[in-house]
Amino acid sequence: MSTWANLGLQDSASPLMEQLIFFHDHALLILVMITVLVGYLMFMLFFNNYINRFLLHGQLIEMIWTILPAIILLFIAFPSLRLLYLLDEINEPSVTLKSIGHQWYWSYEYSDFNNVEFDSYMIPTNEIANDGFRLLDVDNRIVLPMNSQIRILVTAADVIHSWTIPALGVKVDGTPGRLNQTNFFINRPGLFYGQCSEICGANHSFMPIVIESVPVNYFIKSISNNLNS
Ligand code: CUA
Repeated sequence: MSTWANLGLQDSASPLMEQLIFFHDHALLILVMITVLVGYLMFMLFFNNYINRFLLHGQLIEMIWTILPAIILLFIAFPSLRLLYLLDEINEPSVTLKSIGHQWYWSYEYSDFNNVEFDSYMIPTNEIANDGFRLLDVDNRIVLPMNSQIRILVTAADVIHSWTIPALGVKVDGTPGRLNQTNFFINRPGLFYGQCSEICGANHSFMPIVIESVPVNYFIKSISNNLNS
């Protein structure tokens, strides 16, 4: 999760988020190089006394500064497209979770397991535990197995919401009347926090998401306890 003064991306907990961070760093490096070069050239213009009285055109330099930026853009466009298709690829998921956005809470359904369903509300500040996270913890967490492909189906019951977990590189809109799909693979155990990121009304900030990533046998235990109760 994000902590104080954490201005960059969160540490990745999935291979796709890892790729997203690599792409971010790659694009940022290109951006810095362009900014430094252009900044240097603009700065140096102030100290330039040369005047070319006969300069009307320069075919060569025009060619260079047209084609070079186009080539640089390709170095961003191709990795970007690769990631876009990688994010969309569904790879034989072993668990499917359906999450439904409401004003203002999420409800979940494990369609593979006798349709176990539950609501997940934020814990209000005055009821939070001493080790809890304000505005981020929920009463019912999503339990998911780590090291497994997980498919998420997202929809909403009233207005548009967005199911977003930064550490997993997941962000899908939940839209009434539509069923959106995404997938991820959690590669370590732990708690992963997310928030709705579509302005959905007065309490938009108060519908967090918490995933509890556990080993597969723990997940089976947890889900069978839910089936029996
Ligand atoms: Cu739901 Cu913002």
